[in-house]
This record gives sequence, structure tokens and C-alpha cells, in this order.
Amino acid sequence: MLGVVFSEFLEMVEERFSIDMVDTIIEESGVPSGGSYTAVGNYDHQELLGLVASLSEKTGIASGDLVAAYGRHLFGYFVDRYPSFFSKVDSSLDFLETIENHIHVEVKKLYPEAELPTFHYRHNDDGTFDMIYRSERPFSDLAQGLIEGCIDYYNDPYELERSVLEDGAVQFRLIGR
Ligand code: HEM
Repeated sequence: MLGVVFSEFLEMVEERFSIDMVDTIIEESGVPSGGSYTAVGNYDHQELLGLVASLSEKTGIASGDLVAAYGRHLFGYFVDRYPSFFSKVDSSLDFLETIENHIHVEVKKLYPEAELPTFHYRHNDDGTFDMIYRSERPFSDLAQGLIEGCIDYYNDPYELERSVLEDGAVQFRLIGR
């Protein structure tokens, strides 16, 4: 996993908790990198899960909630860092549809070692929209937070419903309110 995913996580921990909390979780999780991540370096995604587990233990907040909160934070980082991806699109639904066929494709071109999930999309007859997450890594909570961040950013009136499909894929359904 790219270093930027780790450095932004630690940035969020510093903002929401404290710099001491950053040091504590690096120490207690015993991550091999020792907590120094360069943006384009590559690190085992288990390190992120280790940092999250330590933060969860220290704060009493469930790991899944921390990862989802991080997804919302990361979405804000992407908006600041890559404004051109957002300025061309004016709804969350249109933006979400660019992830699989455009944004993550560009990410993979820039960073061939990036490990990305796949998304399938479905427009249902009842007007709802499904985005189905599949990955070899367990980051559906991150996907959830990113999608929530996206809905908030475009100020769209969608409720998000999450379910697990038979093959283990995670389905996010956007329902108009
Ligand atoms: C709502 C929109 C998005 C969703 C739902 C999404 C979803 C995800 C998820 C769940 C992962 C973790 C890897 C995995 O699960 O296998 C990931 C990784 C990543 N995504 Fe996205 N993403 C979104 C938008 C973006 C944007 C806007 C960018 C950049 C402009 C981006 C760049 C990346 C990068 C750099 C990684 C890390 C790859 C690695 O560490 O190897 N994503 N994305």
C-alpha cells in the first residue's frame, strides 16, 4: 500500500487525537517501518491494520468506525490534492462512476505497484444505484468512508445502505431521500 495512505492516516490521528497518540500507536503496534512512510514508498497493508488496532484499543472506538472515518478524511485529502478530478464532475454518483474506469486506472499508471480494489456499478429500475466492492484486501470500511465523504462533498441527498453478497463482495446502495 502506498505510503501516502499511511502518512494521511497518521495526519488524521494527530488532528483528531494528538501527536502523542501517533507516537503511542506506532510504538505499540510494533510496525516494521517504525512509522516513517514516504509518499511513494510501498508498505504492507497489514501495517495500517496494526496501527488501526492500536488506535482502537487506546480510544475504545471500533476499528471499522476508525477506518470509515479515515475514508472520509482521505476523500478530503484527494479533493485538496487532485482538484481537477472533481471540478469536471458535479454529482457524487457521476464521480463514483469515474473511480473504476478513470481514477484508479490513472493511479495504476502512475504507481504500477498500487493495489486497488475493483468496483462494479448498477443502476436499478427503482432509481437506486449500487457500487460493488471486491478486493483481496479487507478495506470495505475504507470504501464506505470514501463514498460517504463523496456524498457529503457533493451535498447529495443519498442514504447509504451496505450489504454483503453471496460471494463476499460488499455492496453499497445509494438511495435517494
Ligand atoms: C469515493 C471514491 C473512492 C473510493 C470508494 C476508493 C476506494 C479505494 C479503496 C477501498 C482502496 C483500498 C485498497 C483496496 O481496498 O484494495 C483504495 C486505494 C487507493 N485509491 Fe481509491 N477510492 C476512491 C477515490 C480515489 C481517488 C479520488 C484517488 C486519487 C485521486 C484514489 C487513489 C487511491 C490510491 C492511491 C490508493 C492506494 C493504492 C495502494 O496503496 O496500493 N482513490 N481506493
